[in-house]
Amino acid sequence: MVKKEKNIITGIDIGTKEIKLVVAEKKKDSVIILDLKKTASKGIRKGKIVDSPPVVESIRKVLDESERNLGFPIESAYVAYGGHFIKEYERKVELNLDSKRRRIVFSDIKEAMNLALEDVESIGNVIHAFSIDYGVDNEWGIENPIGREASLLKMHLFVLEGNKEEIEIASSCAERAGLKVKGIFHKSVISPFGCFSSKPDELVLYVDLGAGTTTASLLKGTKVLNVDIYPVGGSHITSDLSYILRIPLEKSEALKKIVSINEPEENLDDELEFEVNGEKIVCRVGDVVEIIKHRIEELFIDLILNDLQRKKSLDYPSFSKIVISGGVSKMQGLPTFIQNLCGIPVEIGLPALDMPENERGSDNVSIAGLINYTIFKEAHPYAILNSCIGGGAISFDEEDPVFNSSIAEKVRKAKQKRFKGQQVKKVIATFKKVIKELF
Ligand SMILES: Nc1ncnc2c1ncn2[C@@H]1O[C@H](COP(=O)(O)OP(=O)(O)O)[C@@H](O)[C@H]1O
Ligand SMILES: [Mg+2]
Repeated sequence: MVKKEKNIITGIDIGTKEIKLVVAEKKKDSVIILDLKKTASKGIRKGKIVDSPPVVESIRKVLDESERNLGFPIESAYVAYGGHFIKEYERKVELNLDSKRRRIVFSDIKEAMNLALEDVESIGNVIHAFSIDYGVDNEWGIENPIGREASLLKMHLFVLEGNKEEIEIASSCAERAGLKVKGIFHKSVISPFGCFSSKPDELVLYVDLGAGTTTASLLKGTKVLNVDIYPVGGSHITSDLSYILRIPLEKSEALKKIVSINEPEENLDDELEFEVNGEKIVCRVGDVVEIIKHRIEELFIDLILNDLQRKKSLDYPSFSKIVISGGVSKMQGLPTFIQNLCGIPVEIGLPALDMPENERGSDNVSIAGLINYTIFKEAHPYAILNSCIGGGAISFDEEDPVFNSSIAEKVRKAKQKRFKGQQVKKVIATFKKVIKELF
């Protein structure tokens, strides 16, 4: 196998419905998706890993498939997980530069961040840290202060902490599958980067509706202002329909995909007929729509918008639009329904990356986000600061802090042996064939 890690970005998206692996190559001015592999998730409930072995197995499966397809080994990856326990807060600090005015350099940014996180007890759980704003001397509102002359550097930071156990389980699953974990991202943060459609100062709410979780992220341009994750998703709609209409889960899964949540009045009394164990079952379209509406209303009004108002004292019409993504966003009529419900324009977010054909749907926004976020982070090191996970201290190396894992190393060695074995077998087989043909 050819060794090829340089300029390769690999991401694992741990979802309730699927585990996805994406391999991208960073070119000078573009990014190319080399491979995207998916497999059904097992052992994940509402975004949370409740049983690790099946998750490890699924990651190994997509990894093996991809390595075979690409012909080079994949040794490290970024992992996106949807842990329920996250804690966000803001920090404002001032860093006195020298008494004389001087130009700000990148190490001043590092120092300011260290100062901002000085009193954070659980520093090893800080997954994301972003600058909301920078200031110099008496001025705020500076995008990138590097190169500015000042005697005071001011930093306003958004910090996201994850839960130790959730982070460890997610990273150990990837390690046991033979991957070095280059970084852990929370899905609520990366998803908006997968479908950016906002102008620099526009306040946009990005909502990614998956099978077991929904994330809601408020951004101003590319700046993250607030994130939330809810243990509610498409699988709840399926089980609501199954429970209330007394139909098997496979039928309700199919049912929610054929009706429109915005079904016109005259269709509500139509009947949908199907068979379950030889028995005829009839459902009224209006009843199906009512059940689905209930979940969506609960999610958007009682949870997402309510929390935003409570946490940010934000009058929600103050943001300009809602961008929805994730598998559930494919539900017929959903954008119009949410628009009427919240009184804000709603758009479907599509992957802002050149995805393979048949993979350009809104359910792949999180995977595009994994790649775009990594690239954005590299290009804007003053805006997205490195996480503290892994070493328990902030690292500003050129390279991301690679988790120091002996397990990943062992698995990789075992795998290399297996690959060699396979290659030898292949050579012998070809050799035998050639000999046969010769005689
Ligand atoms: N056309 C559709 N209408 C309604 N729901 C859909 C549709 N397509 C997919 N879904 C739902 O989307 C969810 C999967 O979303 P996805 O983002 O792929 O999951 P995850 O990231 O949680 O693994 C499932 O609950 C699935 O039933
Ligand atoms: Mg998803």
